[in-house]
Amino acid sequence: SFNLRNRNFLKLLDFTGKEIEHLIALAQDLKHAKYAGTEQQKLKGKNIALIFEKTSTRTRCAFEVAAHDQGAHVTYIGGGSQMGHKESTKDTARVLGRFYDGIEYRGFGQDVVEILGEHAGVPVWNGLTDEWHPTQIIADWMTMLEHGNGKRLNQMKLAYMGDAKNNMGNSLMVGAAKVGMEIRLVGPKAYWPDPALVAECNELCEISGGKIVITDDVQEGVSDVDFIYGDVWVSMGEPEELWETRINDLTPYQVNMSVITATHNTAVKYMHCLPAFHNNETRVGKKIEEKFNMKGLEVTEDVFESSYTICFDEAENRMHSIKAIMVATLGD
Ligand code: CP
Ligand code: NVA
Repeated sequence: SFNLRNRNFLKLLDFTGKEIEHLIALAQDLKHAKYAGTEQQKLKGKNIALIFEKTSTRTRCAFEVAAHDQGAHVTYIGGGSQMGHKESTKDTARVLGRFYDGIEYRGFGQDVVEILGEHAGVPVWNGLTDEWHPTQIIADWMTMLEHGNGKRLNQMKLAYMGDAKNNMGNSLMVGAAKVGMEIRLVGPKAYWPDPALVAECNELCEISGGKIVITDDVQEGVSDVDFIYGDVWVSMGEPEELWETRINDLTPYQVNMSVITATHNTAVKYMHCLPAFHNNETRVGKKIEEKFNMKGLEVTEDVFESSYTICFDEAENRMHSIKAIMVATLGD
């Protein structure tokens, strides 16, 4: 009943709540089939291009493994093509569209992935732009269903802590509005989402029954939620000069054990798209510890390493959900 064949996957605003739930259901089926050893290949003989102008662990590997499981071949192009440097995006789109059956793009502006989608003539999938991270949400909602004690998506409450106007804030808000979830965007006023997008999401909520709460009050924001969600405070591509202000502004929104307690829900779960800054074990983490004397930023080590966290189930589900997106749009 749902036919997403030949559709691009550029942002969740382009999909209905039912289509989003269909992709989640397909991801669940594909996950079960893989575990049971009964997976059917729907992408046999397909060629897939992976353009990454930013680094990635989960998204790149999810596309590669999912394609392989489904019988497709990938070319990892990285950021080294002529596109945007020596050749217009439109021309690259028309060339790659003649070689490949599907194209993934991760980069900076949403405009680039939209141009690819318009001119490639094959499905184009957004693997993260500055504005949106739509594949992440399919994995997130799938993970919440796995850990939601039987609740449906439209019975869940999710608090997103931090920068509510970045790609994750935007995508979570639209994703919630589409499926009828209650989402609380909890952060300083300067980091609240674009009012035009909030208005659009509020309209979607009238149809879906969802609810959007935007607040700078942590207690109000997390009280009674089923899930708390974090993202990095310094996203990919953000210049180092901005770190200090961002860290100072966002520190009151760190998820530590007192925030977990403030949910009044002992079954609350902590989510994060990853990579997370919960200790100083990375090159950037060491720099942050030196400069700001903080170990862990958006989440403390004790929360991240506790039984509250479901971040690694979430990470695994990136693969199953990206597989579902490719199979639905490109599968035989
Ligand atoms: N969550 C996510 O997109 O991870 P990567 O940056 O590793 O792909
Ligand atoms: N906001 C983060 C998300 C990473 C998955 C970034 O853009 O880097």
